[in-house]
Amino acid sequence: MRVLKHLFDNNKAWSERITERDPQFFETLSKQQAPEYLWIGCSDSRVPANDIVDLLPGELFVHRNVANVVVPSDMNCMSVLQFAVEVLGVKHVMVVGHYGCGGVRAALQPQGLGLIDHWLCHIKDVHRRHEAELKQIDDFDQLVDRMCELNVIDQVYNVCHSPIVQAAWARGQDLSVHGWIYRLENGRLHDLDVCITCNDDVHSVYRYRQPGEA
Ligand code: CO
Repeated sequence: MRVLKHLFDNNKAWSERITERDPQFFETLSKQQAPEYLWIGCSDSRVPANDIVDLLPGELFVHRNVANVVVPSDMNCMSVLQFAVEVLGVKHVMVVGHYGCGGVRAALQPQGLGLIDHWLCHIKDVHRRHEAELKQIDDFDQLVDRMCELNVIDQVYNVCHSPIVQAAWARGQDLSVHGWIYRLENGRLHDLDVCITCNDDVHSVYRYRQPGEA
C-alpha cells in the first residue's frame, strides 16, 4: 500500500472538488501564475496562508520561515522577494506574524535549542531594539505577543531596506509593504497599520541612490 495514502486520497478529492466547480481551473492555472500578493509568514502549521485569506492556488505567492523573519543574507527569502517583485510584479508584500509564535517565545528565553538559535538571534535583535518598551511588560505571554507585533513591524522595514524593493519604487512600480498579525484563537487577521509605499518612508541609513538621483 502506498505510504501516507490518506494524503493522496485527500488530494484526489480536493482536485475533483475544484474541477467540479471549474473544469478548466488547473489547465488555465498551469499556463501562468499572476499573483498580486507576496505573503511572508511563519512556518507554523496553524497559519496556512491561502486558507486564512481564502485565496485559490495562483493568487498568493508565499514564503514562510520560523517567525517570519526577513534577513538580507537569506538567499531563499531574498530570491523569493526578487522574483515576486521583478518577475511576477506583485502589488503587495505582507509580512504576517501571529500571536503566541513559538519562535518568538523561544527567542525570549535563555535556553538554547541548537542550530535554530542562529535564526532566532534575529528576534533577539528585535528584543534589544525595543528593550525600553518591553521592560515595562511583566506578564510573559503579553511580552511574547507584543514582541510578535514588533517583530512584524521590524521585518516590514527589513523588506523595505532591500535594494530590490527600493529599485521597484524608483521605477515607479506600484508596491505596498504591509504588516499584519494573525490570532490563532479566533482565526482573525489584524492590520498593524504599518504600510510603506515609497522610498521617502525608508530611513536614510538604508537608502540606496537610484539612477538619476543626485
Ligand atoms: Co510562529
